Amino acid sequence: MNLKEPTTLKIRLHQVGLSRNIKPTKVMLTGDWHISPIISDTQFGFLADAISQIHPDVIVMQGDIVDSPTELSRETSLKKLLREMKLCSKAAPTFLVLGSHDFITPTKKREIMKEFAIPRWKILCKKCGVKLLLDEWAELPNIRIFGSFQDEKCSTYTNKSGELIHKDRPSEFEKYIEKMDFSAATPDKINWLAAHAPLITPKVIEACKKFDVLSFGHTHGGIVPRGMDEIFEKFGIHSGIISANKTLFPRKVRGAWEEDGETMIVINAGMTGAQFCAPEIFQKLNRIKAAEVSLVEIDSK
Ligand SMILES: [Fe+2]
Ligand SMILES: [Fe+2]
Repeated sequence: MNLKEPTTLKIRLHQVGLSRNIKPTKVMLTGDWHISPIISDTQFGFLADAISQIHPDVIVMQGDIVDSPTELSRETSLKKLLREMKLCSKAAPTFLVLGSHDFITPTKKREIMKEFAIPRWKILCKKCGVKLLLDEWAELPNIRIFGSFQDEKCSTYTNKSGELIHKDRPSEFEKYIEKMDFSAATPDKINWLAAHAPLITPKVIEACKKFDVLSFGHTHGGIVPRGMDEIFEKFGIHSGIISANKTLFPRKVRGAWEEDGETMIVINAGMTGAQFCAPEIFQKLNRIKAAEVSLVEIDSK
């Protein structure tokens, strides 16, 4: 057992009731695998267990699948990626949205590696039968999914000394989402939007009101100790201890809730806590957090 990994699996169930006739559908969310040298097979045992318990109709991979795009040329990481993505696609139609770690190096000398990483993700997805959604729709008989690509503007900025700094930038996501055409979202199916980081603002919610569910990853659930998260949830508390940006006590980093009484927001807390690129002391916090897979059951009210 790797001491820098969660030691238990949690399948977090969320039920969504729609006030129109739709076929019951089970969507499984997984993400923030952060494949790197500290991720062992234990994590993937959890993924296999979750799939066999849930029997999902659809799987959405919420991004940050690797800790750094450089893992896409490390043989051991590629092997894990191929095996686990195939495991998902064999179980159900599987869709992937990318997170910043999938195309930007997370080290101090941050580098945008879009031109290197995206063609590799396309090849990998093709090999594994996973559909990569880069600002595009996917249609299944009872669900329609829009996968949003949050590019580097949503997660970085350049400071005065020309350094690339990591920071969640909701205002950039607002600009992006307001330009999107969501007219394809019609009530004949479940309408779902998946993106990596929950950069949720009132403008984003307004632009996405045609969607029944908006799903995200990225936050690692705020690395809340297993068990405590459920107590918080009972009181409608979605805050955590430490955010993906290493700020303390972030709000809205885990669970599911309705925004504006209409759109359901679901945030998957991911398989890892503090990733490989985080300081060692934070990596040890991973043991307090469960590896989380979310199950969203959608049905008519
Ligand atoms: Fe992540
Ligand atoms: Fe992330």
